[in-house]
Amino acid sequence: MGAGRVTQPPVILSVYPDDCDAFGHLNQAAFLTLFERARWEALALGPGMDLFERAGVWPAVRRASIDYQAPAFPGQRLRFQQVVTRLGRTSFTMRQVARRDLDETLIATLESVFVCIDRSGSAVAVPPSVAAFLAPAPPLMDAGPPHRVAVHGVELALDDRGTGPAILFIHGYPLDRTLWRHQLDAFPGWRTLAPDLRGLGRSDAPDLGYSMATYADDLVALLDLVGVDDVVLCGLSMGGYVAFEFLRRHRPRVRGLVLVDTRASADSAEGRKGRETAMADLRDGGPPLIAEQMLPRLLGPKASDTLRDEVRSMMASAPAAGVHGALAAMRDRPDSTGLLPSLSGLPTLVVVGAEDRLTPPRDAEAIAKAIPGARLAVIPDAGHLPPLEQAEAFNGQLRSFLDGMAGTVSVPG
Ligand code: MLT
Repeated sequence: MGAGRVTQPPVILSVYPDDCDAFGHLNQAAFLTLFERARWEALALGPGMDLFERAGVWPAVRRASIDYQAPAFPGQRLRFQQVVTRLGRTSFTMRQVARRDLDETLIATLESVFVCIDRSGSAVAVPPSVAAFLAPAPPLMDAGPPHRVAVHGVELALDDRGTGPAILFIHGYPLDRTLWRHQLDAFPGWRTLAPDLRGLGRSDAPDLGYSMATYADDLVALLDLVGVDDVVLCGLSMGGYVAFEFLRRHRPRVRGLVLVDTRASADSAEGRKGRETAMADLRDGGPPLIAEQMLPRLLGPKASDTLRDEVRSMMASAPAAGVHGALAAMRDRPDSTGLLPSLSGLPTLVVVGAEDRLTPPRDAEAIAKAIPGARLAVIPDAGHLPPLEQAEAFNGQLRSFLDGMAGTVSVPG
């Protein structure tokens, strides 16, 4: 069963004055009512509120455990996301998350265990029609061609493997999700998500509309669609720039951070001019010319010819509109150095290839120094792409970081 993988539709409910206590906060008893209403609304948006009655069963709550994280006030709109995390023979566990719709602030989570009962109150098997709604067979493939997920009018290609807390891998420029092919199955107990950003790899490539904000918002919409609440963000180079924007816009959805061969500063005036030159080259020679120019700077001296050919063809086959869009997005990205100290408390690993010439180790050192508590790992014999060039060493560093996190953050059920 695909429990925990596919969500039911999110539900938005407003906080009413009569839901609140004398202090003006959403009252805890009203909270439970809203969570319940969200469950029924999700049914109404899906197979119908009478799904259980039609099947002759009733979902009785056996246990409910709620975590209140932040107050909510009259007039605020809360977004409730429901995910079934376990589907047994007669019972199931549902995790619901309520966030303020405006800014994603986490308001509360509720975990409930339900038992299906018949009219006499005896536990009965979860009927197939109910199971199909609660935890449908996963539409996402564990191998083979990428899944396609529609967000904000474009379809993104996505590799989605495993179950557990999620790692979201964000590739660099002008690369694609296959950059992470040695990572997808390397972390048992984790769910690994590797999308192609819009315009790159096998995702749709509109002509216009590229920015770090658009990339980050696409990724959040993708997480909503595949039922993932929060993630360890792992971004390489431009993927790191996207990660910084993701943190600015969607901080509550990040439980850990891995920054790989990236930098926090914005483009210098010279760097911006370089983007314009690359755009002109792209017009003249298309992505294959960009690939030829990038290749010598991407890989360390020990990279094999086979890897060089693979990376060249990854870049050469990128859609021109998306390459152009990514250049514009990088040229216009904000400086993120001021963000770094505010990430204190967020488990962070900074990784860099010892031979990286594009974002050399001194950039990584500066990031690691500016984020209190961040760990730095330098990967020997790797250039700008350690996840491909030295996959074992990279995975070892990531694994020990994830193992360390397991003791410090809660893992959803
Ligand atoms: C990348 O690898 O994503 C790019 O080289 C980053 C950049 O050009 O700034």
